[in-house]
Amino acid sequence: MKVVYFSVTGQTKRFAAKLNAYETIEIDPTAELEMKDPYVLVVPTYEAEFIAPVFDFLETGENQKFLAGVSGSGNRNFAELFVFSAKEIAKKYGVPLIYAFEFSGTKEDVDNFEEEVRELERKTTMVRAQQ
Ligand SMILES: Cc1cc2nc3c(=O)[nH]c(=O)nc-3n(C[C@H](O)[C@H](O)[C@H](O)COP(=O)(O)O)c2cc1C
Repeated sequence: MKVVYFSVTGQTKRFAAKLNAYETIEIDPTAELEMKDPYVLVVPTYEAEFIAPVFDFLETGENQKFLAGVSGSGNRNFAELFVFSAKEIAKKYGVPLIYAFEFSGTKEDVDNFEEEVRELERKTTMVRAQQ
């Protein structure tokens, strides 16, 4: 499983840099990125216009098909709006919100996120075996 992320002010990028177990790929607004294998998406939380490259990415090639889950970086001061972008993507594309954290995440967030990705890999493999 790969981890695809987008970052506006660098927090999500710093989180991605702390991951050990998974290859990370940053969404570059100036380049097209097409996935060929299942991946997890990590997005910061903003009004849609700020994260437009994420929606463009999700509408590219087979990127929707390979989206296995989504994770959100946010700020709990936003209360009920905490990680709403990741929640909206999860709902729109019918995938689980596997983990939510603040800013660039703590060591515990990194461990928990990697565990959730492993769990998702197990489920994805099981679904494929049943097909
Ligand atoms: C203008 C602005 C609006 C934000 N709105 C929200 C929000 O509604 N909910 C939330 O959880 N975090 C919100 N945040 C916090 C960011 O999503 C959070 O700091 C995130 O870690 C930023 O990631 P990035 O540095 O990778 O862009 C907002 C931040 C800014 C600057």
